[in-house]
Amino acid sequence: MKILVTRTLPSFIISKLEAAAAVDVFTGGGSIPADELRTRIADADALVCLLTETIDRVTIDTAPLLKVIANVAVGYNNIDVAYARQRGVVVTNTPDVLTDAVADFTWALILAITRRVSEGERLLRRGAWTGWAFDQLLGSALAGKQLGIVGFGRIGQAVAVRASGFGMRVAYASRHELAADEPGRGTSWERMSVDQLLNTSDVISLHVPLSPETKHLIDKRALARMKRSAFLINTARGPVVDEEALAWALEQHLIAGAALDVYEHEPAVHPGLLGLDNVVLVPHLGSATTETRTAMASLAADNVLAVLSGRPALTPVA
Ligand code: NAP
Ligand code: GLV
Repeated sequence: MKILVTRTLPSFIISKLEAAAAVDVFTGGGSIPADELRTRIADADALVCLLTETIDRVTIDTAPLLKVIANVAVGYNNIDVAYARQRGVVVTNTPDVLTDAVADFTWALILAITRRVSEGERLLRRGAWTGWAFDQLLGSALAGKQLGIVGFGRIGQAVAVRASGFGMRVAYASRHELAADEPGRGTSWERMSVDQLLNTSDVISLHVPLSPETKHLIDKRALARMKRSAFLINTARGPVVDEEALAWALEQHLIAGAALDVYEHEPAVHPGLLGLDNVVLVPHLGSATTETRTAMASLAADNVLAVLSGRPALTPVA
């Protein structure tokens, strides 16, 4: 049997896979080119891939032996899951192991934009800091304000749990009632519609998966509903926000600021955002801790090993 791995992963993970099959690792650096992926997947029984690879119908059809696609990410919008299912290929992701890392990073972005951390660092590095000043780079306080969370699953709820440490009220928009075992059940967190949340929140953080329903959920109309003093945080997926509309709203100061980890056309960033001071821009780092990335790769490998040995996958996508 053969396992194709599209990126260099920690050696102990490759060794774990080698115990079960021949392992072909793409070591070219960066994302594997689509034509090379299709050539190398042709005789593969399993694929370990990253969110940067598009696993579409054509790719799946190129691999008649394929039994499992293990995405090293919790989001799986890069994979045609419906078609894989139709072809009898199991798709797995890496839930839970990255929840704390992404929730922590969301708070890093909330603090960075509301307290103007990046702006201050840029000022200092360009030698423009002339000393402490009473009114320099004044930010916005968080205590007593409302954090609005759109998409209230694992990461959204972990972000909410951290809000109490900052004295913020939590509002959330979700399609389902919280189940008995979810952290928000029995708390004072308030469920509201997306529109009501946009109207009333001081910080809005996005945690929905990318789907046809959530593409451009935050568009011109949604931005116009937000308070002029509000901040938008996106650690979900770039296309959930209409980047062009956001650049316009920030430029016009229709909202106070934004902090983005993800972009519509990664690694490209809308040029209208790059020159603005009221936006924090970081390169898709939500789960980027050594511990978390190792746990994600390890879980992906365990999923492959389970399926290849005839057992159920540990974390199949629904
Ligand atoms: P999750 O537990 O599945 O949570 C997603 C939540 O969004 C679910 O509660 C889902 O509720 C809700 N949702 C889906 N469509 C919605 C809609 N149209 N309106 C309102 N709520 C909706 O997933 P997670 O583990 O928290 O991860 C969330 C997303 O974060 C991932 O899909 C990924 O795109 C992103 N992510 C980014 C990074 C990064 O590095 N920046 C890292 C990890 C994850 P339902 O039950 O109603 O479907
Ligand atoms: C990262 O963006 C993930 O979905 O895990």
